[in-house]
This record gives sequence, structure tokens and C-alpha cells, in this order.
Amino acid sequence: MFRIKSSIDTQSKEFRENKKTFLKTLKNYRKILEEVHHGASKSSVERHKKRGKLLARERIDLLLDPNTPFLELSPLAAYGEYKNQFPSAGIVTGVGVIHGREAMLIANDATVKGGTYVKETIKKHLRAQQVAMENHLPCVYLVDSGGIFLPEQANVFADRENFGRFFYNQARLSSLGIPQISIVMGSCTAGGAYVPAMSDETIIVKDQGTIFIGGPPLVKAATGEVVSPEELGGAFVHTSVSGVADHLAENDAHALQICRNIFETLAFKEKHPLALSSGEDPYYDPEELYGIAPVDLRKPVDAREIIARIVDGSYFQEFKANYAPTLVTGFANIMGYPVGILANNGVLFSESSLKGAHFIELCTSRGIPLVFLQNITGFIVGKQYEHGGIAKDGAKFVHAVANANVPKFTVIFGGSFGAGNYAMAGRAYDPRLLFMWPNARISVMGGEQASGVLIQVKEEQLAAKGEKMKASERKKLKEEILKNYREEGSIYYSTSRIWDDGIIDPLDTRKILAMGIAMSLNKPFPDTKYGIFRM
Ligand code: COA
Repeated sequence: MFRIKSSIDTQSKEFRENKKTFLKTLKNYRKILEEVHHGASKSSVERHKKRGKLLARERIDLLLDPNTPFLELSPLAAYGEYKNQFPSAGIVTGVGVIHGREAMLIANDATVKGGTYVKETIKKHLRAQQVAMENHLPCVYLVDSGGIFLPEQANVFADRENFGRFFYNQARLSSLGIPQISIVMGSCTAGGAYVPAMSDETIIVKDQGTIFIGGPPLVKAATGEVVSPEELGGAFVHTSVSGVADHLAENDAHALQICRNIFETLAFKEKHPLALSSGEDPYYDPEELYGIAPVDLRKPVDAREIIARIVDGSYFQEFKANYAPTLVTGFANIMGYPVGILANNGVLFSESSLKGAHFIELCTSRGIPLVFLQNITGFIVGKQYEHGGIAKDGAKFVHAVANANVPKFTVIFGGSFGAGNYAMAGRAYDPRLLFMWPNARISVMGGEQASGVLIQVKEEQLAAKGEKMKASERKKLKEEILKNYREEGSIYYSTSRIWDDGIIDPLDTRKILAMGIAMSLNKPFPDTKYGIFRM
């Protein structure tokens, strides 16, 4: 492969100013993340520790192999909602390594409203199970939860993608031979009792874990029977009387060790074979991404400059370099894993769509994972392009992305607007993981464009009635729309709603993509079958 030739001048004023603005954005993100990590009230953390319990992230640290990374998903879920009383939505999820094997960890944070579930907690739990399903990752549930957050029951209980789906997923995952292991480290009440009961193997901590369909207050109300939590569904009851749990643990640390022991007994699974290279650092310093990342989305950024700082040795085998230059396509390696990269370099035209579809066919026929680097304002508009069939060519690209059965990964490094979000493997296209850089923005179109469209629609309505919009009304409407788009297009709005798997520092992009590909090899790549391409 040839090395990309960078034309970035790291001494230029433009580069230095970009870097300064980017680092400010990154600093703000880190500050928010830090606040969220310590978001639970001091008193509930103290109470939790006094009970001899470890915090959710401490439990995860102890469970994982020493000196291995933990890829936490959506730490800013529910950010800005519920008066910020649900930091990380009260649950920690992510991929880590136990006895050399990638696993999905789902840990309730009991210091956040007793580990109860609001809408975002449910979405995060289900997303974790989906990642486990798509990548055949064993699941470990570190259960410490009061179940549904009752004031929110209408948003979390009865719908298809609500609380009940956890147990459906556990049954389906187990039937695929994907191990389901629970560690009951606290409360496990009502519907929550099914998490350990549906697991292949369950550990419960003495004097700490309880499992019951109805807690003591409900039992008293329903039958008049007065019973303590321990007597009703404590660790001794479930490991020696009911058989709902299998292993009795003395404390958190002991329970986590038992879980690690269980991993030693799991069936060995061959990983999907990929032609790996030895892997090397990029030739160009990844820190230069701070000066290149598009902080002003109106300014074009050559995607090759981004690729050069992500891939091994900055080597890139570009495909159709001179054709349809607004979509850069080509082969590279990331920490030794082969990838096919599609990166935006401007608006998508018919030719770029065809090039993208062709490149995806190459990758699926060669069994190479796809990496989408998004910085897209959308597909080209205008009479000439509609007549040229942009809709049918865009459709071919979308067809190829939707049906590509190799693992797909998406990183939004700039804007993500319009149907460009879809074509470039946005959330609806099931990339195995999707991350955003702190400077990214996501919405159906830019605020300026949206205000233009909406004001014109309004003016046409008024004109039909023989009326006209006053300049002051137009100004007010425009300001409102711009404000909405500013707020709703922010990464914090997106990540709070779990439209992505989290915000990442550009410097971590390589590592995270490599972890994602490693994780995806737990499931054999199925064959790709395309549908009908409109010609
Ligand atoms: N819905 C809404 N809020 C709940 C809740 C629930 N199911 N369970 C706990 N909370 C809230 C409490 O009101 C309290 O809120 P606050 O911090 O604003 O005062 C906070 O979570 C912590 O609860 P607390 O009881 O003080 O903590 P704890 O650690 O001693 O006990 C539980 C935690 C989960 C064991 C206990 O609260 C409990 O049994 N909850 C009810 C569980 C239940 O019956 N769930 C059925 C729903 S499916």
C-alpha cells in the first residue's frame, strides 16, 4: 500500500486556531463525563459503601482481566434529563475481557435511585444485549436494582422495547449458546427477579443479594404474611431452598471471582478468521487530529488527513481515487485488522453513491469489516440531479450498506445531516458500534436550512389566505428554529438519547475501532445477499 501524503501545515494559524477550539470542546466533554461519573449523591454513595458493597465501576474493574481496557458504552445516557438525577442512566454497560474472552457487562448503579430503570436505562440495557447478540458476547449482569422507577412506569413497562424485553433477550441469547451469567449483589425485585432466574448460572451475595417477585411490603399487603427480605428471598434461601441461584458468595469480591471461575468453564469458540497484519502506529501523529477535526462544519476537511492519522503506518490503498472525489474509499489496517473505509469528502452525488455501493461489494466479497467516517451534509439537491436519478443511485448505496453482512463501524467526525446519515451507516443501519467526536453534530439538516424551509412553508400558507408574514415574525420564527436545531443537534442531546454508543476523544478512535473489530470476530460473518438494485 502507498502512504497518504499529508498536506497539513501544523504551524499554520488555521491549524493552531482549530486545535485551540477543539481542545476547548474536548475539555468541556471531559468535565461533563467526570461530573457524571461522580453524579450520584454523596450520601447514597456513603450508604452503599457502608453496606460493604463496591460501586458499579469498581465491580467491573475487579471482574476484568488486569490491565485490559473496558469499552464503556453511552456513559452520558440521560444527561440533561430528570434534573440530572440519573447519571449514566443508573447503569454501566460495556465490553471488557474476562479470562481472555470479550464479554458484555451490564451493571446496575444502586447509588442512583436504588438502581431503578427509567426509559434511558432500559434503552441502554437493551442496546448492550443487542451488541452481545450481534457479536456473540457472553453477558454478565451485575444486579443491584429496585426494578422499574415507578413514577415512570408508563414509559418503561409494557411496550415491545421495554423492561420485559430483557428476559426475552436472555432466552434468545441463551438459545444461541451465548452464556448468560448473573451476580446478584443487591436487590432484584419484581420483574427484575427474572434477570437471575433467566440466567444460565447465577451467583448471589450473602446478607446482600435478594431475589423476589414481590417484596415484603407487597407480601404483607397481599397475604398478610410478615416476612423479612432475607427470609423471603436471601442468598441462603435461593442457593439451598429454591434453587433460583447456584453459587453462594461471601461478598462482592468473592462473587466476582466465582464469575471469573465460570468463564474458565465456558466452551471454547474459534474466532472468525481475518488476515491480520503486524500492526503499527500511524506515520502521522494522531494528536494532529485536534488541529484537523472540523470544528467549523462549513469548512471542508480532506478525509484522507483524518484517515492518515487513524490507520496503520498511514498506508491507504485508495479505490477510484479520481472518480467521485466527494466519497473517499479504500483499504487499510487498524492495529493489524484489515478494514474497508468510506469517508465523506463533500456532498454525495450519483457517482459517489455508485462508487460507495461498488466498494461495499468489494469488501463484503472479501470479508473485510467496514468503517464509515461521517462528515456529511447529505445528498446533492436540484433539478439536474433529480433528473439524473440521484434518488435511485442513493438507494443503491443505501441497499449496499443495509445488506452488507460484514461488521460495520461508524465514527461521526463532523456533521451528520440528512439521508447522508443513513447512507453512511447511521444508527438505523446497525453498525456494530457508533461513536461521535466531541465536535460532531447530528440532525435532519442544518438549522439555517431548516429555518429557510419552514419559513417558506409558512409564507406559502399565509399567501394562500392572502396574508403576509411580518419581518418581526419571520425573525422570531427563525431564531426559535435555530435555537431548537442548536440544542437538538448537539452531541449531548444525541448521546443522552443513546442515538450513539458514546462520545470519544479522536485519539482513541484507532483503539476503539480495533476493540470493536476484535469483538465482532466472536460471530462468524454471514454471507451477504443483496436485494434488487434499481438500475
Ligand atoms: N421506583 C421509584 N423510586 C424508587 C424505587 C422504585 N421502584 N425504588 C427505590 N426508589 C428510590 C427511593 O425513593 C429513593 O429515592 P430518593 O433518593 O429520592 O430518596 C432511592 O430510590 C433510594 O431508595 P432507598 O430505599 O432509600 O435505598 P435502599 O438502597 O435502602 O433500597 C431498594 C433500595 C431498591 C432495595 C428499595 O428502595 C426498594 O425495595 N424499592 C422498591 C423495589 C420494588 O418494589 N420495585 C418494584 C418495581 S418493578
